[in-house]
Amino acid sequence: MKPVSIGLLGLGTVGQGVARILTRNAAEIERRTGCGIRVTLAAVRDRNKAEALNLGIGITTDAQALVSDPSIDIVCEAIGGEDPTLALLHSAIANGKHVVTANKALIAIHGNELFRAAHTHGVTVAFESAVAGGIPIIKALREGLAANRIQWLAGIINGTGNFILSEMAEKGRRFDDVLAEAQALGYAEADPTFDVEGIDAAHKLAIMASVAFGMPLRFDAVYTEGISKVTREDVEFADELGYRIKHLGVARRRKDGVELRVHPTLIPERRLLANVNGVMNAVVVYGDAVGPTLYYGAGAGSEPTGSAMVADIIDIVRALDADPSHRVPILGFQDDALKEHVMLKTADYQAAYYLRLHALDQPGVLATVTDIFGKLGISIEAILQKEPEMAIAGELTEDSIEVPIVPIILLTRRVREGLIEQAIERIQALSTITQPVTRIRVESL
Ligand code: HSE
Repeated sequence: MKPVSIGLLGLGTVGQGVARILTRNAAEIERRTGCGIRVTLAAVRDRNKAEALNLGIGITTDAQALVSDPSIDIVCEAIGGEDPTLALLHSAIANGKHVVTANKALIAIHGNELFRAAHTHGVTVAFESAVAGGIPIIKALREGLAANRIQWLAGIINGTGNFILSEMAEKGRRFDDVLAEAQALGYAEADPTFDVEGIDAAHKLAIMASVAFGMPLRFDAVYTEGISKVTREDVEFADELGYRIKHLGVARRRKDGVELRVHPTLIPERRLLANVNGVMNAVVVYGDAVGPTLYYGAGAGSEPTGSAMVADIIDIVRALDADPSHRVPILGFQDDALKEHVMLKTADYQAAYYLRLHALDQPGVLATVTDIFGKLGISIEAILQKEPEMAIAGELTEDSIEVPIVPIILLTRRVREGLIEQAIERIQALSTITQPVTRIRVESL
């Protein structure tokens, strides 16, 4: 059989990883597939820079020519962005080429239309590398766990955010300071708000949820809250209560609908997920038959991401001559069996909650606060009252004087989020509460 020909869109960090792996492990990969795989052409913006890499690949600056080239079997996209990437992938598909992509935003937002096009043209779109870099989480969800009704999954799926929270917890560093280091180290997205505000994680969560629950992609339904408001105090108080704060993506299937949410989360410190630090990623998947399973590894980087792209290429090559209906379906469920689910609103989410209040140090304050919880039927799991600190209560004016203020930390039992919001509103209205209440969700996993 003649070698399978790969066209690479982009020869940056990820594209180079793919080219190097396919060259270095060519013999091992051929033993797996039964035929050779060669990167024959790469489309780049800067020809001189690409040629200086000496990868032994044909170079073009005409990406449209690459996706129309009849000698190319599989187009491997590692340029990112939406424009012109989406149009290029549509052209590749229309020209009968299989597509492998690491572009999480593109799949999360345009996946449904790309998959329809792929179905029409009898090709596949593979995106293992779009979620959690080198961790084969899509393969696990789609194939390894195919016997299960997957009930929930929760993951640390943004390395930059995890690096920031880990440094805050381990070294007591401040948020801005660690973000600057993450940017200098090259972990962060071009726009770091995608990392710290949870958008990157939301893209990945939307993709995992579709594969886990057999539903069309619903990036629009992911509730997203970033980590920029997590303070060192919250990290320390969480630690005192036996928790770590992680930026989690959670997808949960309930009888009445699906929760898709990305937010800072307190996790009991004994959980493996709570001990995933630095830029590493990890995902816990709960299947009804298998119970909890955990997947851990590098969530980004040249060869970890390249590893996932090459695995997708190998899967495609193994089934190159097969009837399209004999391939594993793109989302792991038959195309005509995907189901729309009710997307639950935040008020209907269910979690436990960590609340941090600052109150005047005077008798009866705690009783008033706990009374609010009692009246709303919210059970309190733990209360921590810290030493009073001298501070200005409320707005700073010429007459302001410092008074003793006590930080109070409350952990609730699992409850509907709408009730917690009501409690916060009532607490916030008390004249004895001196600053906005902090609310962080707690998951026992
Ligand atoms: N910016 C992403 C992260 C890269 O920090 O995880 C991998 O998607």
